[in-house]
Amino acid sequence: MGRIDQETVQRILDAADIVDVVSDFVSLKRRGANYIGLCPFHNERTPSFSVSKSKGICKCFSCGKGGSAVNFIMQLEQMSYQEALRYLAKKYNIEIKERELTDKERETASEREALFAVNEFALNHFEHNLLETTEGVNVGLAYFRERGLSDAMIKKFRLGYSLDKRDDLLQEALKKGYREENLLTTGLIGRSEKGEFYDRFRGRVIYPVFSISGKVVAFGGRILRKDKPGGKYVNSPESVIYSKSRELYGLYQAKPAIVKKNKCIMVEGYMDVISMHQSGIENVVASSGTSLTEGQIRLLHRFTDNVTVIYDSDAAGIKASLRGIDMLLAEGLNVKVLQLPEGDDPDSFAQNHSSSEVEAYLEKNEVDFVKFKMNILLDGVGDDPIKWSRVTSDIVRSIAVIPDDISRNAYIKECCYALGVDEKILLNEVGKSRVAIREQEFKRQQQDKTRAAHATVPEAVSGSETPEVQQEKSTDGQDAEYIVSADLRKNTDRSAILEPFEKQVLRYVLKYGMLTLFDEEEDGISQPVNVMDFVESEMAADEIRFTVPAYGRLFSMALALRDRFMQDYSSARDRAMQKRSEAWTSGEEKIRSEATGMDDIIQREKHLTEECEEIMNQYMHDFAQNYVERILSSSDDDEARTITAELVMEKHQLSKIHTKFAHVESEQEQLGQLLPRALFELKNAILLCDINDLQDELKKEYSSQSPDGERIMDIMNGLGRMLQLRAEFAKRMGERVVTPGVSKVRSRRI
Ligand code: CTP
Ligand code: MN
Repeated sequence: MGRIDQETVQRILDAADIVDVVSDFVSLKRRGANYIGLCPFHNERTPSFSVSKSKGICKCFSCGKGGSAVNFIMQLEQMSYQEALRYLAKKYNIEIKERELTDKERETASEREALFAVNEFALNHFEHNLLETTEGVNVGLAYFRERGLSDAMIKKFRLGYSLDKRDDLLQEALKKGYREENLLTTGLIGRSEKGEFYDRFRGRVIYPVFSISGKVVAFGGRILRKDKPGGKYVNSPESVIYSKSRELYGLYQAKPAIVKKNKCIMVEGYMDVISMHQSGIENVVASSGTSLTEGQIRLLHRFTDNVTVIYDSDAAGIKASLRGIDMLLAEGLNVKVLQLPEGDDPDSFAQNHSSSEVEAYLEKNEVDFVKFKMNILLDGVGDDPIKWSRVTSDIVRSIAVIPDDISRNAYIKECCYALGVDEKILLNEVGKSRVAIREQEFKRQQQDKTRAAHATVPEAVSGSETPEVQQEKSTDGQDAEYIVSADLRKNTDRSAILEPFEKQVLRYVLKYGMLTLFDEEEDGISQPVNVMDFVESEMAADEIRFTVPAYGRLFSMALALRDRFMQDYSSARDRAMQKRSEAWTSGEEKIRSEATGMDDIIQREKHLTEECEEIMNQYMHDFAQNYVERILSSSDDDEARTITAELVMEKHQLSKIHTKFAHVESEQEQLGQLLPRALFELKNAILLCDINDLQDELKKEYSSQSPDGERIMDIMNGLGRMLQLRAEFAKRMGERVVTPGVSKVRSRRI
């Protein structure tokens, strides 16, 4: 490939629309002047990737990656500048006049580029074999026809055929100037013990695997005759351009349909995907027979929140795949599952039914994962209480991994009903499980850190300590130092465990701080209590504070905004009244010119009055709702700005979960429940930390050389109190939920 001249480069850059370019990889939603989505560069469950159409740039304000359209493509697809330009040129149909490569240029073309070129060649070669050679048509094409595939699907998925010859592809490739080593790396050819090269794919039908940008990264070749020895499939090996755990078969073709339907169907095999497409259901991808990986899930999550997993009906496979479901849940996806009738797989089902039948079956038989998991696990449990509780805790663990509050709570409700368990109990169990998960995560992080530290220890250890530190050491003495650091460790452990719980509470404060949660009667006067007031008084009542220093600081900053809010409130109100009167004036004009009589005028004016009130209320509501985040997210305090942006930009646009009972309302509508619950979860987590600490102390005391009886009694008493508190706590939980009647969040009355 030659170089692209400057004029063409400019044309490409001018044509590239950042929103358009990014949309091929990330599902974007409009947010004000910008667009946001899940960052494709790092693992995240809530969007922090922001795209500015007017500036022509994108940026992740969490991991910092992004830039212009070319930069974006270069980073994401690991392309060179030239490759990225070519990619864009192709996208915008801009012609690039190729100049023949010089030998030197051929040499220096990046390895990846060369591998893609080899694969592209093979793709065309296999396709040509299938459609234009006698063997291909008689064997390969005949096979696909027999399996019911249409020409359109064969073309869409670029299916192919490898001739049943030792080195057909190799010879053809060499003739065209491709190099053996690249053919070897992509696995298109192998080398025998005698050192001879041979084609990897021989006498097989070929399913090419595409990356999401449409580059062919691998091939799967299926054997045609059962009598032949060896596996059913031969697949390309992993290489610099192919990592099996990061690709999903069919995603490239399914992408538009997934985004459009905001849903993805997950199946196992190549043929499942293709047959479903043929029957008109195009939002389908395959995990290619292996269990799902985190990378695949993340890839999928860029395009949708909703996944339906289709299972064949065999029970063993289903049980094995339950873990995969938990992974989907942990990534924040809404998961449903569908079982096909006995003996069917998606391929056969799609082939034997009309597309409307397939649609209808999907619609009718999808169940959410709680129900599915319970059905599977409860099968054969009977009344055995031990088995029963094992099932419950298994389900609790699944629910606990769900990061989103609203869906987690909806599932808890549903699960309570189905298992006949009290909601408080389940809430408590889920809370415990979340603390445990967090602890594990934390431990893993610590281990990673330690490992990393060990790896870099040599220079870092000695000599780098500052004089002050050394001085502190010498004055504190050995023992004191030990105690200090142990204590410190305990505190940081604790705040690492509490961090997500504190974050959740803080998020509500930043996002909805000034909204009225309910009215409180005091001496016959009703006082509005807003979100911030509520959190403040709840935390004060139990003498807790944020242990993550930054969160504590932000909370005080938010509280401090209350006075300013009162001042700004009146000017906002003036503006709202102004808007109301503008709406009134223009509405009146319209009435004057359109009304047909007195009755009509009265009718319309009544309507207009309501409309104007609504406009004003909405304005004030928006003003109050955005107040805290608006100020803090543009504060000159770096930390405040970053954290606010991170927390309030989180996606809480939950897609519908169809549970029978929980009509899912927006987060704001549910604030009356969600906020007390978040506080409860925080307190519960603190209590569990306390209990753990005391238990540790107790163990230490017991195992010491000379256990101190009195001390042990003290600790036991303390523990007793805590455990009692926890029991009470669980009971109180019900009362702590602000009752729905008063919970509707309103702005301050005007
Ligand atoms: N698979 C594989 N290697 C194997 C077996 C399976 O890579 N030896 C992957 C393929 O992606 C395959 C999927 O696992 O599509 C599902 O396997 P299977 O159900 O055995 O194959 P099908 O795709 O259903 O193939 P067919 O219907 O053509 O028999
Ligand atoms: Mn099959």
